[in-house]
Amino acid sequence: MKIVCIGGGPAGLYFALLMKKLGPQHDITVVERNKPYDTFGWGVVFSDQTLDNMRQWDPETAAEVQQAFNHWDDIELHFKGRVIRSGGHGFVGIGRKKLLNILQSRCEQLGVKLVFEQDADSDLDHKDADLVIASDGINSKVRQRTPEVFQPDIVTRPNRYIWLGTKRLYDAFTFLFEKTEHGWFQAHVYKFDEHTSTFIVECPEHVWLAHGLDKADPDQSIAFCEKLFASNLQGEKLMSNARHLRGSAWLNFQRVKCANWWQHNGHSHVVLMGDAVHTAHFAIGSGTKLALEDAIELVRQFKTLGDTAEQIPQVLRQYQAVREIDVIRLQNAAWNAMEWFEVCGERYCDQLEPEQFMYSMLTRSQRISHENLRLRDKAWLEGYEAWLAQRAGVSGARPPMFTPFALRSVTLKNRVVVSPMAQYSAEDGRVGDYHLTHLGARALGGAGLVMVEMTSPSADGRITHGCPGLWNDTQTQDFARITRWVHTQTDAKIGLQLGHAGAKGSTCRPWQGAGMDQPLPAGEAEANWPLIAASAQPYLPNGQVPRAMTRADMDRVKQDFVAATQRAAQAGFDWLELHCAHGYLLSGFISPLTNQRGDDHGGAFANRLRYPLEVFTAMRAAWPAHLPMSVRISAHDWVEGGLTPQDAVEVARAFKAAGADLIDCSSGQVSAAQKPTYGRMYQTPFADRIRQEAGIATMAVGAISEADHVNSIIAAGRADLCAVGRPHLANPAWTLTEAARIGHTPLSWPRTYVSGKSQLEAGFARERAQQSATRGD
Ligand SMILES: Cc1cc2nc3c(=O)[nH]c(=O)nc-3n(C[C@H](O)[C@H](O)[C@H](O)COP(=O)(O)OP(=O)(O)OC[C@H]3O[C@@H](n4cnc5c(N)ncnc54)[C@H](O)[C@@H]3O)c2cc1C
Ligand SMILES: Cc1cc2nc3c(=O)[nH]c(=O)nc-3n(C[C@H](O)[C@H](O)[C@H](O)COP(=O)(O)O)c2cc1C
Repeated sequence: MKIVCIGGGPAGLYFALLMKKLGPQHDITVVERNKPYDTFGWGVVFSDQTLDNMRQWDPETAAEVQQAFNHWDDIELHFKGRVIRSGGHGFVGIGRKKLLNILQSRCEQLGVKLVFEQDADSDLDHKDADLVIASDGINSKVRQRTPEVFQPDIVTRPNRYIWLGTKRLYDAFTFLFEKTEHGWFQAHVYKFDEHTSTFIVECPEHVWLAHGLDKADPDQSIAFCEKLFASNLQGEKLMSNARHLRGSAWLNFQRVKCANWWQHNGHSHVVLMGDAVHTAHFAIGSGTKLALEDAIELVRQFKTLGDTAEQIPQVLRQYQAVREIDVIRLQNAAWNAMEWFEVCGERYCDQLEPEQFMYSMLTRSQRISHENLRLRDKAWLEGYEAWLAQRAGVSGARPPMFTPFALRSVTLKNRVVVSPMAQYSAEDGRVGDYHLTHLGARALGGAGLVMVEMTSPSADGRITHGCPGLWNDTQTQDFARITRWVHTQTDAKIGLQLGHAGAKGSTCRPWQGAGMDQPLPAGEAEANWPLIAASAQPYLPNGQVPRAMTRADMDRVKQDFVAATQRAAQAGFDWLELHCAHGYLLSGFISPLTNQRGDDHGGAFANRLRYPLEVFTAMRAAWPAHLPMSVRISAHDWVEGGLTPQDAVEVARAFKAAGADLIDCSSGQVSAAQKPTYGRMYQTPFADRIRQEAGIATMAVGAISEADHVNSIIAAGRADLCAVGRPHLANPAWTLTEAARIGHTPLSWPRTYVSGKSQLEAGFARERAQQSATRGD
């Protein structure tokens, strides 16, 4: 085969040498616009795992790379005058020049033709090639020639960064944070050879503009950075070797991904590789790793399927299918890490203390969890756990999930909340033995707080005929029986969620067959009832059309909420939550998708929030001052034109000002057109943002299913509490089980269940020992 690689970066060179090794008969040329042995850039990072991979494919290259390596384990943070260091992170750094030189000389050794100082304008310049590898980097001309084929999706990110070097040698991957009068700057620093360290300086666009860096030439920018980081640089200079860049040397990161990675251009097959097809932000390192692994995968496919011209289409199809998955995974983690650095100035730097800031930074990609950190550096993590426990008023290291949390006069024994979950099992709004058993079991199961499902302040505010209510004394006594039981038999607290269903009322129970949120079918013994909502708009197209509320309706509903609040206090609840989420009545006022009112309760944001705040304020006045109140919101409508996470910060601020103690951050279910992005802990970013930006305690909820998730969220300060829903349906003793799973044995169990404790713990201990043996710890 005749193969031409356009671009002699890591992707093109490594593919060329591996392919030549696989089939020396192939005629392989690398065309590079730069001079031989001349390249730009400082150090690149990759993991031990990438090197192991390289070792399998070409031990000679791997050995040379290993020789030139700088391996380091520690991450060091310099922040607010403190230096915090943790170990076990295992990085490898090598100079980009050095790496390319190794690859170039290995190519020459194997017989790959290297053509330098030739700018290849197009893949069509090589019509006689069977295969053209477009390894021409982020601004790939080959990709740009036929964007309709490759369908690149390019997102330019808001932060500015400049890629510098320094002779100051750092013995850890070092992160420096400096505050200026206009905002925060950070530097990502690592040594990559015996004489030099990479020094990347980054800041938000508005900070960069405020300092006039858009008008600075590279020398002025370097002088600025030297001054900013002077105390750390200890007299060393910063250097740029990006003289080829015109104007300002500050760049915006561009995230590239492509729907299609290859095509036949009428003469040759063309395939994108490395930065040409995908980029990964330097916050996670590294594009080089992806480029090398692309090359390996393409050669693996030729090796498996046959290295002949006939096999090319099949090889390319398989190459994309396999690589795409790994690349998306890495790009997602890189995206989280990149976003963390984009917002850290506003969101974390001023809010978090150095210890917690370090934890938040280490877990920024959300790929590294609490237990991963324990494997990396147990001593550091235990020190941090002890610090966190002390902040929560207890001594000694313990998993963050098991630190207490106090609001007003109520102290929860831990950070786990049984999320409110409708059971559709009430009669005439009355809770009975079913609820006593259901809630009682969960209160015994170890959670700090058990929330009762959405309970309506009036009969017409229920979702279904099976939903509970709190509009009469009998219902109050039924609830009092449950709270009494929980308080006498367990050390859990119990809370009530009050909510009015609005446009989503009068539906059938989920098991009644018509489907979720569907009105009751005609002819049922239980009849539909008329609905009220912010606007006369049904939730589902075939749903009942509610009547838009009048002022008189609003006054009546507010009074119902206040009366139900008083009854909740009489019933002995420890905690009250107002349901302003999921498209129910109050949520329907807040979202622009469901509120079409023309009066002073519709339109502008402040108008839409007015009635929910009015209800909340009246309830807060009726609820005992020593007890906490939370508000559940949908922090994202997941619909274009709907409420955004940024709006949710404003919603939280308004409820905070009205006396809310905590925001319970759910999302969606406001519009049937929603397109949520599900995933593990997918709503936690809303809790995180609101906690830091609105300065109020938050509860995270949604796909939090392991102790490791709860520990990571609490330890990073992304939320104060974690609500766990569906896992509690499967296992009422979820908290006790998770404690045993992670080996937190000091936890006390209900005295009646103690005999089950050691057996469960021993089973999990065996599992952990087996896992540890498999890992070779
Ligand atoms: C200048 C520069 C400096 C970098 N520095 C670092 C760093 O210090 N640390 C780090 O972790 N990552 C760095 N990166 C990013 C990282 O190296 C990339 O993610 C990785 O190199 C991707 O490998 P690649 O082979 O796909 O692309 P690249 O490394 O970008 O290689 C593409 C090659 O194609 C050549 N080329 C482009 N167009 C043409 C054309 N039309 N004709 C001929 N040749 C062409 C370019 O000169 C370049 O050599 C740098 C990238 C660049 C371009
Ligand atoms: C059966 C069921 C009933 C629910 N009922 C309510 C409810 O009454 N009030 C509420 O705010 N959320 C309700 N939810 C949402 C949960 O409280 C929780 O936010 C959601 O299930 C996501 O958490 P999870 O992934 O841990 O299950 C319900 C969820 C389920 C599965």
